[in-house]
Amino acid sequence: MQESMKFLSTEMKEITDAGREWVHRVLEGPSDTICNVEGNEVIMLCSNNYLGLSNHPKMKEAAINAVKTHGVGSGSVRAIAGNMDLHEQWEKRLAEFKEQEAAFITSAGFTANQGVIQQLAPTPDDVILSDRLNHGSIIDGVRTTKAKRAVYEHCDTGSLEDELSKLSKENPRRILVITDGVFSMDGDHAPLDEIYKVCEPYSNAIIYVDDAHGDGVLGRNYSGKGLVDHYGLQGKVHIEMGTFSKAFGTMGGSIVGSKELVTWCRNKTRSYLLSASHPPATAAASIKALDLIEHEEPGIVKKLWENIEYFKKQIIDMGYNHEITSASTTAIIPIIFGDPLKAKKASNSLYSDYGIFALPIVFPMVPRGLDRIRVQANAALSKDQLDQGLRAFEEVGKKLGIF
Ligand SMILES: Cc1ncc(COP(=O)(O)O)c(C=O)c1O
Repeated sequence: MQESMKFLSTEMKEITDAGREWVHRVLEGPSDTICNVEGNEVIMLCSNNYLGLSNHPKMKEAAINAVKTHGVGSGSVRAIAGNMDLHEQWEKRLAEFKEQEAAFITSAGFTANQGVIQQLAPTPDDVILSDRLNHGSIIDGVRTTKAKRAVYEHCDTGSLEDELSKLSKENPRRILVITDGVFSMDGDHAPLDEIYKVCEPYSNAIIYVDDAHGDGVLGRNYSGKGLVDHYGLQGKVHIEMGTFSKAFGTMGGSIVGSKELVTWCRNKTRSYLLSASHPPATAAASIKALDLIEHEEPGIVKKLWENIEYFKKQIIDMGYNHEITSASTTAIIPIIFGDPLKAKKASNSLYSDYGIFALPIVFPMVPRGLDRIRVQANAALSKDQLDQGLRAFEEVGKKLGIF
């Protein structure tokens, strides 16, 4: 190997020695409740496909029709020659669904966070306040700015208030307060109503919520409209970011809010201006996802909640009764093993002995001692499939001496 590339093997050795190598399992077919993973039929308990839409017949039909009418690629970035009627309809439909003035779609949630945060607080005269447990894509977005930055304690509005009052004394140009809507490791959600109250007195404060795991899951009357709707804060929270890659079953980041915000994003966001638009099939299927949730299958979010509540109660009752598990308020159900080896062993046994696909998440992705398997509920799972999963967790928990 060339001398200059030796770092590849050195760094990979460090990663593998620390047990942090990502070994990718291969899905040989669609992501659904039952998946074919490397020749094994398994029950999927760790996908973000919360509503089971990624292999839904109507979603596939919408995508196939779009391929027939619009081809497979868009040919360009939106701002040059890649702005199709389907992209416009997608944004219009999302704004309607979210009960906001306008919507802006980017290639992914990651690039929405990276590109928009970069422009919202770019200078040393700006300040960014971020929840301690915010997602890595937010952290990476913050890193691309020259803004002063501070973290406040997780979901702690007292800590946020202290930081706000301290930092506002320096007279910043803008104060960008960023929080995950739903926290992706623990499944708890941000107290957005209180965050709004704390920020309201500051005329230069901007609230930015990343609702990647709240979209399609939270919302009043099982609307799936997300955390902003859960608290009825439309028009008050300035920027609502989301993604189609989770409950909506496709792919694409989103920003919804005022028309002015969206026009500004369209003109400033480099990850949007410099990256091609989505294939037509993604746009058409994404529109269909919103139609399904709102009109064609209005019971789908309620079904997800029935599955969440059933699975979580049984898991806690059988002995996985950690406070982190109880504190989850969404489809993310963290099952704590408290030790990286136990979490990995449990996941391997679930997979090989019981046909359950649920991956471990261990230190450094979560704090030491909170090593876990993160189960993600799905509306399409049958009671029988949930029960198979529960039985497997019970036997594995006993074998490993968890209870
Ligand atoms: C909280 C949060 N924000 C953003 C993202 C990125 O979304 P996407 O997969 O659309 O890039 C994720 C995905 O892991 C997430 O969990």
